Amino acid sequence: MLVFDVLKAEHSHIKDLLARMEATAGRATNSRSELYDCLRHDFLSDSEAEERIFYGALSDSPEMSELVGWAREDHAIGLYLLDALGAVAPDTEEWMAAVKTLKDNVELHIDGEEGELFRRARSLLSRKDAQTMAPGRSRLPHLRTPNPPMISVPTRSEETHSSTVG
Ligand SMILES: [Fe+2]
Ligand SMILES: [Fe+2]
Repeated sequence: MLVFDVLKAEHSHIKDLLARMEATAGRATNSRSELYDCLRHDFLSDSEAEERIFYGALSDSPEMSELVGWAREDHAIGLYLLDALGAVAPDTEEWMAAVKTLKDNVELHIDGEEGELFRRARSLLSRKDAQTMAPGRSRLPHLRTPNPPMISVPTRSEETHSSTVG
C-alpha cells in the first residue's frame, strides 16, 4: 500500500468522525465526548505521522517546502481548534459551532493535502519510497475510530503498542 492510500483512508475516517459529530443531537453528551476523544487521537496521529514520515521526506525539495510549511501550519491550527472545542461543554450550541469551524478547517486542509500536495509528491517520490513510508499501516492500527467502516478496531492493549507510526 502506498503512503497516499494510507493517508487518504485516514482522512476519510477523520471526515467521517467530523460528520458524525455534526449529526449528534443537542444533548448527546456522552457520544459527543467519545467522538471528540477519537477525533483528537486520530487527527494527531495522522498529523504526526505525516510530519515525521511524509513531509520529512519532501521538505528537502525546494518546490515542496512552501506547501509543506503551510500544511504544518494547518496542523497547528487544527490542534488549536481541537483544544478550543475540548474547552466547550458538549451539551451547548457553542460546542456545535466549534465543531463546524473545526470541520471546515480540517476539510480544507485535507482537500489541499490530497490535491496539490499529493500531486507534486507523486512526481517526486518513487513508488518504492511511497510504499516504504507505509510499512504495516494498511490496516491503520493506530486509529481508534469507533465502528469504522473499513478497519478493525484495536483493543486497548494493541493501542498502547501501536500508537506510534513506524
Ligand atoms: Fe492528513
Ligand atoms: Fe495533514
